[in-house]
Amino acid sequence: MRLRLEDFSKLFVRPVVVVTTVSKNGVPNAAPFSMNTPISVDPPLYGFSCHPEHDTWRNIQDTREFVVNVAGEDMGDLMKILEEKYPPDVNELEKAGLTEAETAVVKPPRIKEAIGWIECRFEKAVELGAHIWITGEVVSVGVKESAWDGVLKPEAAHPLTHISKEYFAVDMVTRTFERAKK
Ligand SMILES: Cc1cc2nc3c(=O)[nH]c(=O)nc-3n(C[C@H](O)[C@H](O)[C@H](O)COP(=O)(O)O)c2cc1C
Repeated sequence: MRLRLEDFSKLFVRPVVVVTTVSKNGVPNAAPFSMNTPISVDPPLYGFSCHPEHDTWRNIQDTREFVVNVAGEDMGDLMKILEEKYPPDVNELEKAGLTEAETAVVKPPRIKEAIGWIECRFEKAVELGAHIWITGEVVSVGVKESAWDGVLKPEAAHPLTHISKEYFAVDMVTRTFERAKK
């Protein structure tokens, strides 16, 4: 069956991250993103697509740092709060009842409840259509021990995945599949 062009992204199930930044006045900000991916391992680069009017983009331009927090299904109900537009002086982590934890290299806090976190220094932005593709250099990375076994342990981590707007995919991963080695 044929779809409208604007429906193409609804064919993909994408991991949800919550990007934390701080404003130039030091107020933390948190926003969910699902148009996102690692770009390369060496050098370690990560990217996501951000509407230019989001506070996240303004903060990144002002402070050149951000943290990518990998969300679990247990954070699903918080998406509604985190995607709301609050004035820049409102701490959205507090609004969502999430806990700020210290980061190793950059200033923005990480989210304690997240499965894992990637600390990034702003590398480059590219205007694409109505969005900005923001690239970060990964400068520190960590994971909840219970969610890790050499790679992400999806059956323990239960990552939250997004399809479109209010549609998410849950209960997707029940076990890790290891393909035969060459
Ligand atoms: C699950 C989910 C995924 C989202 N993905 C994106 C995205 O990839 N790019 C984007 O610009 N906005 C995305 N949004 C919308 C932003 O999170 C939302 O507009 C938010 O208020 C921006 O916050 P900020 O102004 O504090 O940066 C998403 C929202 C949700 C709930």
